[in-house]
Amino acid sequence: MRYDTPSLIRWNARAYDSSFGYVSAQGAPLVDLLDPQPGERVLDLGCGTGVLTAEIASRGARVLGIDGSHSMIETAIAQFPGLDFTVGDGHDFTVAEPYDAVFSNAALHWLSRDPDAVIECVRMALQPGGRFVGELGGAGNCAALIAAMLTAWREHGLRDPHLPWYFPSPAEYAVRLERAGFTLRLVENFDRPTPLDDCPNGAADWVRMFAPSLLEGVPVGTMESLLRRVNELAAPALRRESGWMADYVRLRFAAVRQ
Ligand code: BEZ
Repeated sequence: MRYDTPSLIRWNARAYDSSFGYVSAQGAPLVDLLDPQPGERVLDLGCGTGVLTAEIASRGARVLGIDGSHSMIETAIAQFPGLDFTVGDGHDFTVAEPYDAVFSNAALHWLSRDPDAVIECVRMALQPGGRFVGELGGAGNCAALIAAMLTAWREHGLRDPHLPWYFPSPAEYAVRLERAGFTLRLVENFDRPTPLDDCPNGAADWVRMFAPSLLEGVPVGTMESLLRRVNELAAPALRRESGWMADYVRLRFAAVRQ
């Protein structure tokens, strides 16, 4: 897929999903790390509803937001009609003019099919010296959530679900970046316990919201019991008096194309 800025695709607006708003709010420090400069060209890979794309644009950069989800891009265009957004696959995109920076928040872990292909697309989208600044789920991300899911699935006689995410260790991701021709400037790995404000029914709601593909093969009659069990198993690690927390681990990096 090729993006010739502005390759703008327009759809009708749809309601903004506040759970993704939280993702965007958490991404503000990453924009500071990117430090976009007036006039720079910045590509936001996995831009979601475009909140951080707009933040980058507000600092004077010229932006293009790309996301695999049509509905996210519809919402981004509706919210920020002056900016360029397009639907596309992070595994397979090219640009007409190289960018000064590629930015990515909370999206790279969804691009799990071939992380090297994603990194190569990013490299090709950057000019030499261009920056790649990103944050994704790191190794151990959602460990308690995933353990609860796997146990509940097994207890219900279901096959282990395919987990659609890529949560690399800092060392693994650094090797991929260096092998692809990037110089690492910064790698950080840290816990970010995250309130599940939009999940009143805790881990069960999280599974419904973020892992719907796992539920596709589950018999209707098993669903309620399965998700109740996920909650029971996850509660000791993730339920606080104040509410449910997700056990997120962040891998943050900044790299430069050689
Ligand atoms: C994350 O941000 O780490 C994440 C969100 C949803 C599903 C999996 C991971």
